[in-house]
Amino acid sequence: MLLLSALRQAPPRLDLHLPAHGRGRGLAPDLRRLLRRRPGRWDLPELPEIGGPLEPGGAVAADQAECARLCAADRCWFGVNGASGMLQVALLALARPGQRVLLPRNLHRSLLHACVLGGLRPVLFDLPFDPATGLWLPPTPAWLQQRLEQAPPLAALVLVHPTYQGLAGDLRGLIAVAHGQGLPVLVDEAHGGHFGQSGLPMGAIAAGADLVVQSLHKSAGGLAQSAALLLRRGRVSEQAIERSLLWLQTSSPSALLLASAAAAFAHRHSAAGDRGLRLALKRAQALRQALAAASLPLAVNQDPLRLVFHSGALGINGLAADAWLLQRGVIAELPEPGCLTFCLGQRPPRRALRLLPARLQQLRQALGGAALPPFSPPPIPALAEPELTPGEAWRLPQQSLPLGQALGRLAAEPICPYPPGIPLLIPGERIDGARLEWLLEQQRLWPGQIADTVKVVA
Ligand SMILES: Cc1ncc(COP(=O)(O)O)c(C=O)c1O
Repeated sequence: MLLLSALRQAPPRLDLHLPAHGRGRGLAPDLRRLLRRRPGRWDLPELPEIGGPLEPGGAVAADQAECARLCAADRCWFGVNGASGMLQVALLALARPGQRVLLPRNLHRSLLHACVLGGLRPVLFDLPFDPATGLWLPPTPAWLQQRLEQAPPLAALVLVHPTYQGLAGDLRGLIAVAHGQGLPVLVDEAHGGHFGQSGLPMGAIAAGADLVVQSLHKSAGGLAQSAALLLRRGRVSEQAIERSLLWLQTSSPSALLLASAAAAFAHRHSAAGDRGLRLALKRAQALRQALAAASLPLAVNQDPLRLVFHSGALGINGLAADAWLLQRGVIAELPEPGCLTFCLGQRPPRRALRLLPARLQQLRQALGGAALPPFSPPPIPALAEPELTPGEAWRLPQQSLPLGQALGRLAAEPICPYPPGIPLLIPGERIDGARLEWLLEQQRLWPGQIADTVKVVA
């Protein structure tokens, strides 16, 4: 079995990718202890003493209540299908079929899939764009206010905070604007579970969010797929959340993954967890200084544990940089045309301090040149509502066309490089001339990630 042998072998590499536990170094200690026990003894069904995320009694219910308390939330549910599953649970609880939801252009594709599953009508708002790095930037409250005024009626607003690349804005201000219009706010905090600690920006619950999704493998010491949904009472129905969990979550959630969620929260809020985070921040700071001393450009962000190497400033596409580094044993997390993001994780490897600056200097010597030209902002309006709902467009008879021949057609499937899993085109959107030109440019910028053909409604 190839997967088994791939997992058994662990070639020596510089792993700067997710999960954030970094091949076990930063796993929550209680979870590590559990995994040292005889393998499989912890793989149990929902026995009465264990229960499950929807059971009123048992260990899972008690741990969920404790995690809610630790996070200053009113409720917490653990999930075993990643932040993706929890975002879908949350969105389906916030809106009924046919209702409109306001989503940012940097939405994770799981939210688009929730619109398909729930028959929701997404209204997409644009974001500030940085032509130098090609990254979406966080909106300001005034930016959001302008869009919110033109968008009603809406059932909910979703915000991403922080982004995959660790960018974060004035979340409290953004939520206040939405609450001013009576809208509940769901924050995708998949990458920001550690926010609110050790001088990092404020976390989403503290900023006033009604629902918050965290990924415990992206920004805490949990295993892949472990996630949590936090709720603040007032604007969202707890019954609606439990109903969507019932619809979407397996009836046999893995006790190991549920324990991973509990252990990751408990560790994050312990003295040892705090010390671990401070050590990680110190290593990250030393690494940033070493890169700066070597004049290796980093994009500005708000999460010190995400290092966004601005390869475009050295004339290198981030996907080319990634391919070059991969061959030399450095595994980054997120290649994009202008940047390459490294996830330092819960326990950044000491070797990174020595190896990463050296490898990036070699990369500059091998592939560097004049800075890449500025990236074009996507030609999209401030607010866009696909002509058909994604659920309708995705299910209609479709036809595959060379991208260059899709002018004026309605998209039947998304175009979505992965990672980061942010759609460049959404089913139901019409491909006008400016969008087509931009998509063709994206195809050149994301080699191998965007197919030559696009599915359109027949
Ligand atoms: C912003 C954001 N939200 C949600 C997700 C989904 O997380 P998971 O992989 O835990 O399902 C991702 C995954 O990359 C993401 O980047």
